[in-house]
Amino acid sequence: MKVLILKSAELATEAASREILSLVEAKPDCTLGLATGGTMEPVYAALRQGAGAISFAGVRSFNLDEYVGLAPDHAQSYHRYMAEQLFDHIDIRPENTHVPRGDAASPNTEARLFDEAIAAAGGIDLQLLGLGANGHIGFNEPFSSLGSRTRVKTLTRKTREDNARLFAEGEEVPTYAITMGVGTIMEARRILLVATGAHKACAVAAMIEGPVSAACPASVLQFHPQATILLDEGAASALK
Ligand code: F6R
Repeated sequence: MKVLILKSAELATEAASREILSLVEAKPDCTLGLATGGTMEPVYAALRQGAGAISFAGVRSFNLDEYVGLAPDHAQSYHRYMAEQLFDHIDIRPENTHVPRGDAASPNTEARLFDEAIAAAGGIDLQLLGLGANGHIGFNEPFSSLGSRTRVKTLTRKTREDNARLFAEGEEVPTYAITMGVGTIMEARRILLVATGAHKACAVAAMIEGPVSAACPASVLQFHPQATILLDEGAASALK
């Protein structure tokens, strides 16, 4: 695990987008694993700028997760997030982008087919990850199996509270999500996790210095041979 502590959130997110752009430049037909959330917004803003000079026409992408029950055009769906933050602004082909369908008739089948599609694409070259304040990666909440595959997960109260800010007042945060499994994430050839802000400091310390445990699913990244963790000083503030 390589841990890089940058002076500011801006520098950490810029470093993440530079890593992605240099991979796309070196391997124009690469497969990216993408994440959503507040941390990723500046990463995608920098990618939108960089994508003017570097083509994404040959890139394939697989997103980590989607809320069960939300159709792609729902304002809080991750389909919509990805369109607004990235896909609508770059030359990636829509048919090469994959976000689990939250409105699938069978979310369990959707999850199984998603893993099969990743395998058929030859696996993920670089998986981008954020970190939940409770140590989740994707929507793999604490005590998720460290060998899990893409599947339906129940969201914890903490995650639903954290994400309520993104939903309209009075609108319920969905209870379930389809998420890439921890085992699926660990199969990516490289991993790039970005965490910024002091509210992530405890989760960051558990991920990097804690025992590898399902209590903090991100701690499994200690076993990944090519994982880079990009932090700002706030997120790094509880490290020894
Ligand atoms: C979203 C995802 C989540 C987020 C995490 C951090 O696709 O996979 O694991 O990365 O919840 O979210 P923010 O960046 O909003 O704090």
